[in-house]
Amino acid sequence: MSTLKAGVIGYPIHHSKSPIIHGHWIEEYDLTGTYETIEIAPENLKEDIQKLVDQGFHGFNATIPHKENIMALCDEVDETAKAIGAVNTILIKDRKLFGSNTDVFGFIQNIKQEVPHFDFKNKRAVVLGAGGAARAIVYAFKQEDVSEIIITNRTREKAESLIELAPDQVRIIDWELREYALKGSDLLVNTTSLGMEGQLALELDLTQLPTHALVNDIVYTPLMTDLLSDAKAQGNDIVTGIGMLLHQARPAFEKWTGILPDVDDALIKKVLS
Ligand SMILES: NC(=O)c1ccc[n+]([C@@H]2O[C@H](COP(=O)([O-])OP(=O)(O)OC[C@H]3O[C@@H](n4cnc5c(N)ncnc54)[C@H](OP(=O)(O)O)[C@@H]3O)[C@@H](O)[C@H]2O)c1
Repeated sequence: MSTLKAGVIGYPIHHSKSPIIHGHWIEEYDLTGTYETIEIAPENLKEDIQKLVDQGFHGFNATIPHKENIMALCDEVDETAKAIGAVNTILIKDRKLFGSNTDVFGFIQNIKQEVPHFDFKNKRAVVLGAGGAARAIVYAFKQEDVSEIIITNRTREKAESLIELAPDQVRIIDWELREYALKGSDLLVNTTSLGMEGQLALELDLTQLPTHALVNDIVYTPLMTDLLSDAKAQGNDIVTGIGMLLHQARPAFEKWTGILPDVDDALIKKVLS
């Protein structure tokens, strides 16, 4: 390929770890090019994206607050992004914008890489939270034939808005009753911001959770959240959240370069340092 020209748009954007991830792969696969952070205010979205097209960008990632609004500016949007209602990856080809969402891939691949024997089919999953990340995860569960998806969220109406993603599988349980949802479950995922550095703690007694259940926290600062420590102490398999961030970047890199890169220890180390 010619020299890669890519980046991530957001507002603000200085916190993004994406340049570390894509920079690592550019180096590892002996490519030339750049992946930069590009700050775009919401009111300038259309004009500033046009500038990226004019400058010959191969594509870019979109993060907060552009993931939803950018959909209307795309010439085509893939099925996953349409279902979730958010685009995080754009390929520019013949001056056209092709939008997709790679969070579903990232979430699933992280668990598959970390716990290869785990089979999603016919399992019962509990999802804590009902924000943007939960939408991608509920859709991922539907794709992987999870048979029951129990969603519990502080704001019940937001949990109810996720039913449309998997009407036959989703059941809602009130946030105050979340511990009852754990009984008989095979998989527990925290998609709330609780437990993240600077946020409130996630209060959850895991006694009811079977020890065979897999526990994943998509919060990755800190990497070992209290939820994961408690689950590990109880004998459950655990998966941290950093892998979702890394794996979701892989299909984007592939769209722009034709190479589906790996997530290896060197990359994990770089991103966490
Ligand atoms: N590992 C990864 O690659 C990855 C990817 C995406 C996101 N994340 C992380 O996942 C978390 C959620 O992201 P998001 O984009 O889904 O955010 P979001 O759309 O803002 O959703 C936040 C969720 O947290 C809940 N919440 C916030 N404060 C709460 C509180 N005090 N008590 C109970 N629930 C509370 C919200 O409940 P309400 O609906 O009641 O407000 C909502 O369900 C963030 O920490 C983010 O960094 C990680």
